[in-house]
Amino acid sequence: MTVDLLLGLQWGDEGKGKIVDVLTSSYDIIARFQGGPNAGHTLEFEGNKHVLHTIPSGIFHPEAVNIIGNGVVIDPVIFKKEIENLAPYGINFSEKLLISKKAHLILPTHRLLDAASEAAKGKAKIGSTLKGIGPTYMDKTGRNGIRVGDIFAPNWDSKYKKLITKHLELLKNFEGFEVNDIYALEEEFLTSIKALKKFKLVDSENYLHQAQKAGKKILAEGAQGSLLDIDFGTYPFVTSSTTTAAGACTGLGIAPNKIKEVYGIFKAYTTRVGSGPFPTELFDDYGETMGRVGNEFGATTGRSRRCGWLDLVALKYAIKINGVTQLMMMKGDVLSGFDKIKVCTAYQTATGIQDYFPFDITDEQIKPIYEELAGWEEDLTKMTAETEFPQNFIRYINYLENALETPIKIVSVGPDRAQTIHR
Ligand code: GDP
Ligand code: IMO
Ligand code: MG
Repeated sequence: MTVDLLLGLQWGDEGKGKIVDVLTSSYDIIARFQGGPNAGHTLEFEGNKHVLHTIPSGIFHPEAVNIIGNGVVIDPVIFKKEIENLAPYGINFSEKLLISKKAHLILPTHRLLDAASEAAKGKAKIGSTLKGIGPTYMDKTGRNGIRVGDIFAPNWDSKYKKLITKHLELLKNFEGFEVNDIYALEEEFLTSIKALKKFKLVDSENYLHQAQKAGKKILAEGAQGSLLDIDFGTYPFVTSSTTTAAGACTGLGIAPNKIKEVYGIFKAYTTRVGSGPFPTELFDDYGETMGRVGNEFGATTGRSRRCGWLDLVALKYAIKINGVTQLMMMKGDVLSGFDKIKVCTAYQTATGIQDYFPFDITDEQIKPIYEELAGWEEDLTKMTAETEFPQNFIRYINYLENALETPIKIVSVGPDRAQTIHR
């Protein structure tokens, strides 16, 4: 039995949460493979809007099992709040939500280290979500981290105290950074750890291997986006995990030869939250309209997202790295009323025209080369079939499929679960 993957092809916030929720009815298991509460995955259905940070986006389907994989980093404080927010839905968590014992824990001092490190960088800051993601993955690769399974270990107290003490020492190196009320933070953390103990902690790779053997259908859910990948993203303005397809192998224990479909999600334009290069970024009315109509505010931090035209150089790069087999295009509805639509087909760099994503995009002076397509006036949000689409929107879709050499199988025309058109 095979596993399908769903991941973002841009700088995150492509609409992964919405599509995972839409697809869950065809799967038995939804498994998050990396990232942590830096993610904000928005789901809308039946008049409800919900933002998930750590919990997989299949959680509203009572028949599906949701797994938080070993590649995820968990802040028990945020996790507890997420669970509390879900109380009205009567979800059977003990049966439907499993957590890998190997997932790493975000301590309150990881969050402080994130804040201190960003403050020390000044203007060069990453623009992190300040959720402690970088320091937690550093402790994981530095072999100092604490894992979810450790909360039941006899030496939990000493492990935890040792790491907190180490972090507090490290924090002294950040001049001018003050640690306020560490006791309150610790109390909140330890209360949340108690709450975490009530959940089902599993060897999720083993669970998934058995599920595969039993013929269960599994969908792996990515967080962030390919251009935020620690290796392939716009380094150093990236997150600290493998957001690309390989992350599903390491973050869930799924063998590469078991992966079948790779669903790549992108917006009909581009957004980015936080610092870092963004060649097609707009500072004009078009960008302003994308942000306003698209309601482009971070689901986790509330920061406004930078907006720009679609970048095919970046998208082709992401499709290759992930081995995308099917595309899903989100938010085409936001572009209704634009008199023209531009897409970047190549970059003009100091050394000439380039159609490959450059190594040091951060330092390169890049001028995007655009192709211009006709816009459309019609409101797409109430359309329920492809046959209702305006001609110029169909032309945009066909143009992209051609350029990207990959079929666009889902077109999303609004945030609601129902505003989804399968092709
Ligand atoms: P994720 O992190 O990839 O799950 O995406 P986010 O939830 O952070 O951001 C996507 C935003 O766009 C959310 O507010 C969604 O409700 C919204 N959204 C998703 N698909 C569409 C769409 O097709 N049209 C519009 N207008 N909004 C959408
Ligand atoms: P979802 O899953 C968009 C960005 C941050 C920052 C950089 C590093 O909702 O698509 P971090 O806190 O990870 O150290 O921040 O990555 N970032 C995201 N941007 N969507 C996300 O997740 C993001 N998670 C992190 O803004 O630029
Ligand atoms: Mg998001």
